[in-house]
Amino acid sequence: MTPPAVDRRLFLGTTLAATAVPALAAEPLAKKVKVAVIGCGSVSGQYLPNLAKCPYAEVVAVCDIKPDRAEKRGNQFKVANRYPHIDQLLAGVPFDLMVNLTDMQEHEHLNRQAVEAGKHVWSEKPLANSLQAGQALLELSRKKGTRLWGAPIPVTSPQFAFMARQLAAGKLGRVAAAHADYGHTGPGWSAFFYEKGGGSMPDLAVYNLTTLTGLLGPAKSVTAMLSVVTPTRRVDDNGEIKVVAEDNAMVLMDHGNGVISHTQSGFNYFNPHGHEGKNETRHTIGIVGSKGAMGLVGYDWEPQGVDLATENKPGFVRESTDKGGYVWQMGASLACECLATGKDFLVTPEHALHVLEVIQAARQSQDTGRRVEMRSTFKWPVVS
Ligand SMILES: NC(=O)c1ccc[n+]([C@@H]2O[C@H](COP(=O)([O-])OP(=O)(O)OC[C@H]3O[C@@H](n4cnc5c(N)ncnc54)[C@H](O)[C@@H]3O)[C@@H](O)[C@H]2O)c1
Repeated sequence: MTPPAVDRRLFLGTTLAATAVPALAAEPLAKKVKVAVIGCGSVSGQYLPNLAKCPYAEVVAVCDIKPDRAEKRGNQFKVANRYPHIDQLLAGVPFDLMVNLTDMQEHEHLNRQAVEAGKHVWSEKPLANSLQAGQALLELSRKKGTRLWGAPIPVTSPQFAFMARQLAAGKLGRVAAAHADYGHTGPGWSAFFYEKGGGSMPDLAVYNLTTLTGLLGPAKSVTAMLSVVTPTRRVDDNGEIKVVAEDNAMVLMDHGNGVISHTQSGFNYFNPHGHEGKNETRHTIGIVGSKGAMGLVGYDWEPQGVDLATENKPGFVRESTDKGGYVWQMGASLACECLATGKDFLVTPEHALHVLEVIQAARQSQDTGRRVEMRSTFKWPVVS
């Protein structure tokens, strides 16, 4: 049967407005999402190769306030349209999705400007600088009929699904506690990681906080201790700088029903696997209950497998080692697939905003010495 001819813009608009997923099976090439990448620094070198391979994406523009970077990426990935400012990007070649890979503190206003212009947005973390601003952005995107998503995407890995299923099946018995950690000696290229709104929580802990809330449920309250271990640093783009944001963080989350988790992150951690953490083989996430324990081998953004021990099989057995095509760099490509086909996407803006609130609450807890109640939530369980 020949599918009915559908105008691509109309098709994208229809799929986004509808809550039910339409079962249209058009040729992928007819449904390519036109993508503009803003921010052509380090992480763009990870996203662009993935987008270039994605059958649902066509990168039509790149933009950076440092125009030489947009030129470089444009040449490297054969993207003809290069812009030095978001105003010119939005006034330039038409596109559907803006992929925001700029400094963390820039995301909020750039995302807002794109949504106001009717664009879908995939943003690196965080979506905004505060929960309130993020929720306003989400409301605006709903009014505009556009989609909004924020990194990271560990909930889409097969290892996350495996762990979620073990928990749901009661394999660990009564779940009690979890621990996660992620650290290295800190990025050396840009100052924003150490300025207000930066820090090890939005850069590193954000992965673990997404995984743990995804597995154990939304946080009800948060307690934290944060510190700055290295008060000054040298970075490539700004020489010697003062470190303002936390470079050492311990965050406790109460997930309700007695379940408590702890997430540790920092920019002063010796890591034999370097910044990239490639080939990490220890458990970076551990979850324990009355009848079993689970350890995620490697980082949640690059999982190698899951070790599971239960009453019946008390020694750890390695399970779920197949990555099934998952890589952390594929977030914007998955967003394109979702826009083009209507396929379900486990990554939601509500979850990203909940994690943003955890980070905000951790800062409040550090400042006040108090436990902070959470206001936001998201649809849970993530994997049914
Ligand atoms: N570098 C990584 O390995 C990595 C991995 C995962 C996530 N991230 C996230 O990606 C984002 C970017 O990190 P990065 O390491 O690529 O930083 P970066 O400093 O290397 O790149 C950021 C780029 O954004 C540009 N930029 C800043 N403000 C802009 C604006 N208003 N308009 C247009 N361009 C602007 C800068 O000029 C720079 O080229 C951050 O949110 C970071 O947490 C980075």
